[in-house]
Amino acid sequence: MSVTSSGSATYSDALEGSNAKRGLWSSRFAFILAATGSAVGLGNIWKFPYVTGENGGGAFVLVYLLCIAIVGIPIMMAEVMIGRRGGRSPVNSIRLITERDRLNPAWKLVGAIGVLAGFLILSFYSVIGGWAISYVGTTASGQLAGQSAEAVGAIFSGLLSNPSTLMLWHTVFMVLVMIVVARGVRSGLERAVSILMPALFVLLLMVVGYAMTTGHFGQAAAFLFQPDFSKLTTSGVLVALGHAFFTLSLGMAVMMAYGSYLPKKISIAKTSITVSVIDTGVALLAGLAIFPIVFANGLEPGAGPGLIFQTLPLAFGQMPMGTLFGTLFFVLLIFAAWTSGISLLEPIVEWLEEQKGMNRTISTIAAGGVCWALGIASVLSLNLWADVAPLGFIPMLEGKTIFDLLDFFTANILLPLGGLLVALFAGWVMSRQAMENELSLSPTMFNLWFIIVRFVTPVAVAIVFIYNLM
Ligand code: TRP
Repeated sequence: MSVTSSGSATYSDALEGSNAKRGLWSSRFAFILAATGSAVGLGNIWKFPYVTGENGGGAFVLVYLLCIAIVGIPIMMAEVMIGRRGGRSPVNSIRLITERDRLNPAWKLVGAIGVLAGFLILSFYSVIGGWAISYVGTTASGQLAGQSAEAVGAIFSGLLSNPSTLMLWHTVFMVLVMIVVARGVRSGLERAVSILMPALFVLLLMVVGYAMTTGHFGQAAAFLFQPDFSKLTTSGVLVALGHAFFTLSLGMAVMMAYGSYLPKKISIAKTSITVSVIDTGVALLAGLAIFPIVFANGLEPGAGPGLIFQTLPLAFGQMPMGTLFGTLFFVLLIFAAWTSGISLLEPIVEWLEEQKGMNRTISTIAAGGVCWALGIASVLSLNLWADVAPLGFIPMLEGKTIFDLLDFFTANILLPLGGLLVALFAGWVMSRQAMENELSLSPTMFNLWFIIVRFVTPVAVAIVFIYNLM
């Protein structure tokens, strides 16, 4: 992500003490690329289809879309706005704003939640990133060509049952993330994202094209877009809300960190909407690619986290030049996961640098090392500890492995909680004048946004939490 060192003039109305040396994004486009690189990842291609399958399809998708529109976009705007207003790393941005406006410094908690969530998410994210790396080899070797659903399923179970292979690829993924973060995120990434993201999009379109030939496209579209509310549970609503935060990289102050580099003249609303629309588009395309294959092969939509690894290889095994396209697809999936992984580690490293005074390399090794070690628990959850459900005595968490619990706790609890704090901070604490200046919306649009962050988001998150506790 390129951050130029010019442009300090546009910072003239930033908070005093905010330093001009940090530089700004080279353009609105650069910010969109970086934010999209963070948002589009395993959440869109791996997680969205499987949670949709597990939660019965259409009604879940509708709730998810509503959560993106009503909660996600306004919270993204709030995060970017707070970041730009503070002009520092999340913790320091909030500290600056609270000091200047004499507010309670406890709001720094938002940054702390972000650091904790980053550790926990990256630990299992890296394991799934490892699956994607392993599938590059599986696809490139040509062993998927013409295989049956059973054979493809057996290849996947074979991977999961092998802790040492999983550890190897988990380690490779984590090291890839650490290398970029240690060297500083600002070089090369922007160019990579601007080529690789569109390429991923095109390949997804190709799989959707193949999916249309399976004869089950209509059934899949109906599954995704015809809501059947009898299939929607309260926990499904919680998962939809949590996933909206997860997929947009919200609730962890990542967008706040990125927003601190956004030049003043750029519209926060337009950029947030653009990022959210791209992110949602990729997820829906992934759904349209995967579910026709699920139905055509008599597979189970609720198969869980392995869903894309049991369906996409079937498509690549059957389409012309599938070995080539399949390999390319998994390579691009790794890149999507990589840019997201970087945005999970970066805030932790920034926090260690600022708060603990460590240098960047040491911070990266420390933070990455802890995530890597935590990831071992997720690796073992897939095989040796597959029957270990540490919190199984709680009805809602019955049968959940450590891996399932990490996913559940971060996406469905920590991120919405982080988002709730951001909403409360923007809706009740920050100066209205400052926010009007930052967002520069028409009075109607500002009021709409303000009502959402002040009332709608906090109430929605609270209701979903309370219902699920009962
Ligand atoms: N949004 C990414 C995905 O969909 C995951 C992610 C990256 C994330 N950074 C984040 C989620 C920060 C929450 C917060 O794969």
